[in-house]
Amino acid sequence: MREGLEELERELRDFAAKYLAVLHGTLSDINLVSSGLKSNKELFYFSQVLDSVYPLFRGKSESLNAIKSCGVVVDVGFGGGFPLLPLGLILPEEIKIIGIESISKKVVAVEKIMEELKFEREIKLINNRLENIEFDRDVVILFKAVGNVNDCLSKIRVSNGKRIFVFFYKGPNFYDKENLSVIKSNNANWDLLEEYKYTITTGKDGDLIERLFLGFERNNKRNKKCSKSGPIGPEFLKISQFL
Ligand SMILES: C[S@@+](CC[C@H](N)C(=O)[O-])C[C@H]1O[C@@H](n2cnc3c(N)ncnc32)[C@H](O)[C@@H]1O
Repeated sequence: MREGLEELERELRDFAAKYLAVLHGTLSDINLVSSGLKSNKELFYFSQVLDSVYPLFRGKSESLNAIKSCGVVVDVGFGGGFPLLPLGLILPEEIKIIGIESISKKVVAVEKIMEELKFEREIKLINNRLENIEFDRDVVILFKAVGNVNDCLSKIRVSNGKRIFVFFYKGPNFYDKENLSVIKSNNANWDLLEEYKYTITTGKDGDLIERLFLGFERNNKRNKKCSKSGPIGPEFLKISQFL
């Protein structure tokens, strides 16, 4: 993690302003973020940019240690670049960052944003679906606003013996929509690592944004080469080829 919270927050603010400028300029014809966020700078900064990195650099989540020990972080379903791009600003250079996104026009748009913002940090973008990827090395996988936990976990293909951590950015309504006991019993090859609740206080009026960060770790107990959804084979893209 880079030093100096204040300096980092200035950088994140600067990133947010430049990102919105690109959205209102070159990329005005594509809906990368909701119109509500696009027109409200403060809300965009707190609920999209700061929220992307908060559990790692302000919070007490296990995710940062997991990222440091694996050395690779993969953002699945990065959409308009979240948490992918803010992570690129705060994580040390030695951590490799990869994004996977199924919609090609979003991938092209995020490439354009990195180019216009003169992003120096290397971030690899994969235009594909999670279902087609095999995780053949130790990685941390992040999902922010991508479907439900049960579906996401069941789509992750892991090579034998690899250490895989998965973290989900969720809101407090997670408990109304999903059931942690059911998730645990359906996914015996994943251990719940953390259930971390936190609030982000927004600037001017001090409104609170409630968040939940859920972490899982693959256990090797039932991590057989053949999974429910079929054997891992050459037709899957290996994540290691993007490193
Ligand atoms: C609601 S958006 C969230 C975007 C971003 N993570 C954010 O928080 O702003 C969900 C994104 O996940 C992508 N997505 C959904 N399922 C996917 C899959 N199986 N593989 C890759 N991308 C997927 C969608 O195309 C979409 O861009």
